[in-house]
Amino acid sequence: MWIYPDLIAHRGGGTLAPENTLAALRCAVAHGFRAVEFDVMGVAGGELVLMHDTELGRTVPGSGPVARLTAAELAAMDAGSWLGEHWRGEPVPGFGQAAAFCVAHGLLMNAEIKPAPGLEADTGHRIAQACQALPAGSVLLSSFSVEALQAARAAAPDVPRALLVGAVPDDWRAQLDALAAVALHARESGLGAAQVAAVKAAGFGLMAYTVNDPARARELFASGVDAVCTDRLDLIADRLPNA
Ligand code: G3P
Ligand code: MG
Repeated sequence: MWIYPDLIAHRGGGTLAPENTLAALRCAVAHGFRAVEFDVMGVAGGELVLMHDTELGRTVPGSGPVARLTAAELAAMDAGSWLGEHWRGEPVPGFGQAAAFCVAHGLLMNAEIKPAPGLEADTGHRIAQACQALPAGSVLLSSFSVEALQAARAAAPDVPRALLVGAVPDDWRAQLDALAAVALHARESGLGAAQVAAVKAAGFGLMAYTVNDPARARELFASGVDAVCTDRLDLIADRLPNA
């Protein structure tokens, strides 16, 4: 069962603000969203930050693995100017900072565990542990990494989990059962009505990503999808109910 909002802002603010920053979370609030997705990575020193890429260079300057830096080093870097001068100096936030913001603003967190290679179990464990300190129902974990989700389950079985997939695999039901997951998060392209019906009939939540066309969002909702994750907060928030 899906107990979360039906619209989720991808990477915080979608394309409207630098991804995985506090500015992005503020953007979600400004557009009336009640749920955000962001990516969480474990870095040097065992801390957790909001970050999508495993390598520096796209959203923060430099080269080499993000996970070699500490959260303090990343917090001093510019994660905003890649999108525009207006955002220069926007830092890489820690997971704790982001979570505090979301709790204070009533934003449901879909925290995607985005582990650096080799740190799947460690990152899943750390994030789940950190989530135990958050209010019940304030976070839904997800990951493409089964290993990370298994570790999260072991560390904090009561923090809900969703399995992230591209195309829906044939054994989706077995995978969800093995993780005691509450939901499947599936790529929207190719997600058909029969798959949606099967997942819903089995009693799982179903979120589709990344949906930037309001017509496609309506089609997915009509087929039974519970929620969509979007980059276009500006298009979708105004055009669909329950934003
Ligand atoms: O959770 C949906 C989406 O965030 C998964 O893909 O690469 O944007 O993290 P990605
Ligand atoms: Mg993500």
